[in-house]
Amino acid sequence: MESVIVKENEKDFDKKLSEAALAIKNGKLVAFPTETVFGLGANAYDDDACKSIYTAKGRPSDNPLIVHVHNMEMAKSLIASYDDRFEKLSKAFWPGPISFVLKKSDKVCKTVSAGLDTVAVRMPSNKIALELIKRAGVPIAAPSANISGRPSPTRSEHVIFDLSGRSDYILCSDDFPIGLESTVVDLSTEDTVILRPGFVSANMIKEKTGIIVKSHDSNKKVSVPKSPGTKYKHYSPNARVYMVDSSFTKNDIVDFALSKNSSAGKTKFLEYQNDVEMAKNLFADFRQADKDNFEIVIVKPAKEGELLDANLNRLIKACES
Ligand code: TXA
Ligand code: MG
Repeated sequence: MESVIVKENEKDFDKKLSEAALAIKNGKLVAFPTETVFGLGANAYDDDACKSIYTAKGRPSDNPLIVHVHNMEMAKSLIASYDDRFEKLSKAFWPGPISFVLKKSDKVCKTVSAGLDTVAVRMPSNKIALELIKRAGVPIAAPSANISGRPSPTRSEHVIFDLSGRSDYILCSDDFPIGLESTVVDLSTEDTVILRPGFVSANMIKEKTGIIVKSHDSNKKVSVPKSPGTKYKHYSPNARVYMVDSSFTKNDIVDFALSKNSSAGKTKFLEYQNDVEMAKNLFADFRQADKDNFEIVIVKPAKEGELLDANLNRLIKACES
């Protein structure tokens, strides 16, 4: 397959966006920007189309997909039941970088939920994403638009690199997204639990809605993780990744590299001043390190900030891989 690559600034972008929306409706794959990371979308009602997402990404089949909607009516058509928490949280944070796990309705195709009785739903705030869903007229199931295991794509060039020839359309955007995937919050049981930390923190949820959330420690080894995706190798470049603390300086690189059987010349040192900068750049920096053939990546994370949890979650996973 040859992917149709559509640039945001080309003159018939609008026409191509409509073509891509029609392609989604007809069972094809479209990669598109969101405010978190790029997604690889298919019609959430179409089981075969959703299966082709797994093939294109090389994604394990037991890892369910997030379904993207453009309004509340569409969201509610996907879920069997919800309570006050969903009303409050969606009002406070949608459209935006947060997904809610709820009991699914029978409209959601089998492949999307990978055998679970729940579905994760999100209303993104990116204009292109919203317009694509609206024009398609169907909800769009979309994981991050990377080959499984690789860092999530935060620039158009990453999507083109991973998915050219694997997605029918690739919609590009020059906007820099947040760089972290959405916060995934489980509302399907009595406890409100963050299954995957993201831009919206437990603190922000409490401040805006008064709802107290528990944090599911996805780094703990549990036999059946509640969010299946958290058990897989993730976010990692080919280079080995190490996290260092704030006492580490450039002068330590030579000794550190030697202790890992490498050399300073093959070692990339990434240092982030604040949490927002780290979120925005970490995945892109991982990909650049691979392009430049580094063997080792040393990361000194930003020390504080609202995104600290989410950033460390991604970094620790990259270190484990
Ligand atoms: O920001 C995002 O969430 C991006 C953009 C494209 O929207 N999408 C994304 O999708 O990160 P993905 O597939 O890379 O990660 C989805 C996560 C996985 O950890 C998956 O296991 C979890 O959400 N998930 C999806 N459906 C679920 C469900 N029904 N119950 C529990 N976890 C679920
Ligand atoms: Mg992903």
